[in-house]
Amino acid sequence: MTRSLLLIPVLLVSCLPRLSSKGELQFEEKFFKTTTEIRDVQQEEFDYLEELKKEKIKDYQELETVARESFTPLVTIFERKCFDCHDSTRKLPLYGRVLPRINPVKKHQVEGLRALDMKNIYPFETTEGEVSQLALLKAIKSATLDKSMPLKSYILVYPFRRISKKDKVKILNWVEPLIEEHERLREKYRPLAEAQSIEQRVSRLFFNKCLRCHGNGNRRGGFGGMEDLQKLAGQTRYINKENPEESFLYKISKSGEMPTDPRERLTQQELDLLSEWLHTLSQQ
Ligand code: HEC
Ligand code: HEC
Repeated sequence: MTRSLLLIPVLLVSCLPRLSSKGELQFEEKFFKTTTEIRDVQQEEFDYLEELKKEKIKDYQELETVARESFTPLVTIFERKCFDCHDSTRKLPLYGRVLPRINPVKKHQVEGLRALDMKNIYPFETTEGEVSQLALLKAIKSATLDKSMPLKSYILVYPFRRISKKDKVKILNWVEPLIEEHERLREKYRPLAEAQSIEQRVSRLFFNKCLRCHGNGNRRGGFGGMEDLQKLAGQTRYINKENPEESFLYKISKSGEMPTDPRERLTQQELDLLSEWLHTLSQQ
């Protein structure tokens, strides 16, 4: 009895190495399976987003065509009543050009263009730079509804340039479907907007392919902390902002040295993403 009891630990100990090597093997296999799965999902997501991007360009081009074509019945109204202040190709009348610093006409045009420049009809521009088309369409709608445009001082001089009831119907018939379409497209392409942050995409790439050895406390080859993109970006040993493709981090990934497992090698799309991110750093 005592002898058989003594045998138990002996047997157990003799089993240990086999158990652990088997356990490790299973772990490796399981790990490989999950990384392949991750890679498939990631690839699918990439493909889906690429498709969506192409569709988005097409949809917005179509919207642009519709916006221009449906504007035709409005051209005369806008030319007469709005373009003095909202078309940058229009010359100021002579009296608008004298004493430009204090001349209210000049001032109205400058400020009008800062809010809305319709020189190409659509897409709208402004001298302020990038603008949301949807926001401007909505502004046109509310300016039409509350009659805040054309400016009161302008109407005083040109009473027949106010927006008539007929104008109002025509403008709303043009602007409302465009607003609706914009809102529909914004919903449709929300996944793109959400997925588009390049930092998020790069973080996910590092998470899938590097952090196991270089992040969250792991420092293989003395290199860690990859989860903190901002810190990583400041490490000149790995990141070359002047010459992004010369970054050690990029070269070592492109050559296939990293990740160490050739099955996890970065795809061309992933390399492009990495390069894109490095380029954004060089612009900062
Ligand atoms: C006499 C000059 C003048 C005329 C004519 C004029 N606008 Fe304006 N418009 C302005 C100025 C100045 C601003 C910017 C300041 C403001 O919003 O009051 C502006 C702003 C706007 C904005 C942006 C408002 C916002 O909330 O951002 C819209 C939209 C607009 N105008 C539409 C029109 C339309 C449509 C017409 C023609 C029916 C028109 N405007 C005629 C001077 C003009
Ligand atoms: C399975 C673990 C593993 C994974 C995954 C991995 N690496 Fe490594 N990495 C290492 C090891 C081990 C070294 C040290 C190699 C040596 O010194 O020869 C290293 C070294 C490096 C170095 C050089 C560090 C230095 O200062 O010399 C860089 C840069 C690097 N890896 C980047 C990456 C990137 C980028 C990824 C993901 C795309 C990645 N690694 C994924 C294990 C890994």
